Amino acid sequence: MINAPSLANCSVLGLGQDVDELVRAGETFFHIDLMDGHYVPNLCLPLRTIGDLKSVYPNCTAEVHLMVTNPMDYIEPLKNLGADYFAFHADATSVVLRTLTTIRAAGMKGGVVINPSQRVDVIEPYIHLLDYVILMTVEPGFAGQRFLPGSLERLSELSGLRAKHRAHFLIEIDGGVDCEVAKECQTRGADILVTGVFVTFNQPDGIMAACKRFRQHMDNPEESK
Ligand code: DX5
Ligand code: ZN
Repeated sequence: MINAPSLANCSVLGLGQDVDELVRAGETFFHIDLMDGHYVPNLCLPLRTIGDLKSVYPNCTAEVHLMVTNPMDYIEPLKNLGADYFAFHADATSVVLRTLTTIRAAGMKGGVVINPSQRVDVIEPYIHLLDYVILMTVEPGFAGQRFLPGSLERLSELSGLRAKHRAHFLIEIDGGVDCEVAKECQTRGADILVTGVFVTFNQPDGIMAACKRFRQHMDNPEESK
């Protein structure tokens, strides 16, 4: 199970310190939200976050979640900045196949994001082009929302589709993940969990202790209760 701390939850003034603490806590896989104010009514981190991150921590994985209306326009810039994973929303473009093919031709892992209001089987026409799928468990655009009821059943459906089609994409869960749902997500087939204010950030004992606690919990949920 990969913990993917969502950098949108870092302090804006202390982003570098927060990332440094995450790295010292052993985290290497970072979820980076990009928003354009159109696909979602919010703005988030600037594009150059990815370049800055990769220049200081070249061995980390930059996994970019694009909440934008024109994902094709970001493929070349993100490739040049060193992004490793690129996921866009399935309803953000009419050329999903071309977008996925272009991302992968650029050397990045390509994925789509499924909103809570969308059917999980929207991915079936291009299931074999996917390196990963982000299943949103809150509506996109804002951190700190609660994990939506019904999301676990949707995750099981997505795992079922993966098995049915003998596909190999990774499943990432994004939004409102807390320690309680995390283990159940793992059991139901999730490979990557995005963590925000309920796990990694905003904890009274800091980021380092929170990462350690989460790792222990996932290794052995009974003992960490
Ligand atoms: C929401 C974002 C999430 C968010 C996760 O639109 O995609 O990545 O930062 O943070 P929490 O877990 O706090 O919702
Ligand atoms: Zn996200």
